[in-house]
Parts: sequence; C-alpha cells; structure tokens
Amino acid sequence: LARYRVAMIGSGAWACAAVRMMAQNTLAHDPADNFTDEIKMWVYEEEYEGRKLTEVINETHENPKYFPGFDLGSNVRAVPSIDEAVADADLIVFCAPHQFMHSICKQLIGKVKPGASAISLTKGMRVRPEGPQLISQMVRRNLGIDCAVLMGANIATDIGREQLSEAVIGYDNLDSAERFKKLFERPYFRVSLLPDPVGAEMCGTLKNIVALGAGVVDGLGLGPNSKATIIRQGLVEMRAFSKALYPSVRDDTFLDCCGVGDLVATCYGGRNRLVAEAWTRAQMSGTPRTFEELEAELLRGQKLQGVLTSNEVQEILRARCWESNYPLFTTINRIINGHLPPKFVVDYVVSELMRG
Ligand code: NAD
Ligand code: 13P
Repeated sequence: LARYRVAMIGSGAWACAAVRMMAQNTLAHDPADNFTDEIKMWVYEEEYEGRKLTEVINETHENPKYFPGFDLGSNVRAVPSIDEAVADADLIVFCAPHQFMHSICKQLIGKVKPGASAISLTKGMRVRPEGPQLISQMVRRNLGIDCAVLMGANIATDIGREQLSEAVIGYDNLDSAERFKKLFERPYFRVSLLPDPVGAEMCGTLKNIVALGAGVVDGLGLGPNSKATIIRQGLVEMRAFSKALYPSVRDDTFLDCCGVGDLVATCYGGRNRLVAEAWTRAQMSGTPRTFEELEAELLRGQKLQGVLTSNEVQEILRARCWESNYPLFTTINRIINGHLPPKFVVDYVVSELMRG
C-alpha cells in the first residue's frame, strides 16, 4: 500500500509547532493513517550563530531561532531546497508568512507531484488589480492542486506546550480534509471539519487587523470593556466584509474556533497585539517608533501579518467605496499609518456606531 509523504513549506513558529504535531503522528504508525515517518521541512536558509540554520535544526531537532525550546522530532528533516521538499510529497502543508506565498507558489510551478493535495496554515491575502486572492486560491491556481485550510486559535508556543487548542479544516475535498485531520489531530489539538474554507480563511486573515486595534487599546492603558468593544465590532466587520466579497460564506463560521475563538486568542496573546501595544506606547510617550523597528526588536525575525493585511484590505475598501461601512478597519488603518492619533480607536468607533 502506498504511503503518504508529507512536506512542510515554512519553518517559523507556527510551522514548527505544526510540524512537531505531524511528526508525532507520522511516528505513531497507526495502520489506518499510512504516512511515511519522515517529514521534509523547507527552511528559508539563513545563518544562525555562524552556521546554516538547516544544519542546526538537523543536528539538534530544534529551531533555535523561531521556536526555541521545543523538540521537533528526529523524523523532521530541514531542507534548504524547496524543490527537494516537495518533489515526492503527496501532502503539502503551507505555513509561510503571507507576503512570501506568491513567490513560493511561483517557484513551485511544475514542481509538485500530480495528485498531491495541500493545506494552508497561512493567515493573510493578496490584493491584485483584478481583486483579492486568498492563499488557498493562490496555491490552487498556480499549482493546480486541491488546497484546504487549517485555521483556529493556535498560538504556536501554547501548542508547543501541548495546551488544549482547537482548529478547523476548511475544505472542498472531504477525502483530503479527513487525511489532513489525521495528520494534525493530537489529544491536545482538536480538529474539526468545516465545509466553509473561504469563511475560515477570511476569519484567519481579518482577525490580524482587529488584533492591532486590541494592541492600541492596551497601549492606551484601557481596560477589558474597551477591548471587548473592539473585539465585538471587529467580528461584525469581519463577517460583513467576508460576506460582501464572498456571499457563500456561512454565518456560523464566525462563531467557530477560526472566528471568535481565534479573534479572542489573538487580541489577548498574539504578536500583532504585542507590537501594536508597544507602538502605541511609543507614540503616546512622544518618542515614536515604526512598526518595522518594533517587529524586528520584539519578534526577532518572526513576521507581523496585521499591518500588511490592514493595508491590503484597505485597498479593497477604498477601491469599492466601502470605507464608511467598516469604521473599525478604517480607523485602525488610519491610526497605524499615522493619519489619526491612537485614541481614535475608541472615539471614532463610538461616534460611527452612534451615527449608525
Ligand atoms: P514566523 O513569523 O514565526 O517566522 C517567519 C518565517 O518567515 C521564518 O520561517 C523565516 O525563515 C521566513 N522567511 C523570512 N524571509 C523569508 C522569505 N523571503 N521567503 C520565505 N520565507 C521567509 O512564522 P509563522 O509563525 O510560522 O507564521 C506563518 C503563518 O502562520 C503566518 O501567516 C501567521 O499569521 C500564521 N500563524 C502564526 C501563528 C503563531 O502563533 N506564530 C499561529 C497561527 C497562524
Ligand atoms: P499573531 O500573528 O498575532 O501572533 O497571531 C497568531 C495566531 O494567528 C493565533 O491563532
């Protein structure tokens, strides 16, 4: 019986937490699952303390730059060649920051095995002149393979610590979704199947904008009532925007772990929140810093998705004359670009809501 070979494209914090779960499952040798033990993980090669990061990972089974302190498993092999990573893979997991996904897809054209299937863990979208493109749509279009999504309240370090977390697999192809569920599910990581892949991916993308608003609220020193206002209004706008772009998106997706679950987790414990809080404090103290500086300083190589996503979504809102329908998204975008002071994160939302 043929066994499924697995490749991970990405090696950041979430990619490592995810590959660690997959590596535990492929080694379990459940006869019903049929995965080969080894997982190839494509690593964007860089120097780490004078050595190649791939060599360090393969020697120590740990990614000390992006996911320190966690054993990934001796069956994870870091490879610097993306072609080698996918060459014989039947199941391809994409988990690179969204800004790199277009060039990754272009590099992989004609390189993936016919009949392979993919899943994207990336949160974000691309804006082209002809309109928005979700990452799963990009994979499907460029590589000609099915692509599901895995989305949820999945802060990487908590999953590395094996704390209870939930995710959905948003799918079009049920067979492939069930296979990926077997690959990811662990006792501490509950996976359910959701036949609304677009809704799930839109949730994962848009919550990163709202998380910036939550960070601004924290940076202003405001309490949980104010943050709850941002989270609630954020969810309203996430749903409205998703349905305006993709009318088939389902309402109940926003109540799932990929919707309100991820939104709450990210607005309390995510990197977008952390950096936006620091940015706001710097603004308020009269010694402003840029998001780029704070991202480099606080995340040390990890990548923020929210600032890019806010600008990408705003481009769509502007082009369609929808800005006034999305007062929170628009306010956050103006704040992070320096066109409104941070305190407007609450003032502007409140005045818009009262007018509505
Ligand atoms: P990360 O932010 O921790 O790390 C950044 C990664 O980008 C590194 O692997 C680095 O090697 C890579 N990189 C840098 N320059 C590159 C280039 N030019 N081309 C390709 N790769 C390059 O990564 P992550 O946390 O795994 O995030 C990947 C996706 O997963 C993002 O969309 C993120 O929103 C999503 N996500 C993250 C978490 C989390 O807790 N970290 C949780 C859920 C979802
Ligand atoms: P951050 O990128 O803000 O840390 O969000 C992580 C995440 O998506 C958790 O589900």
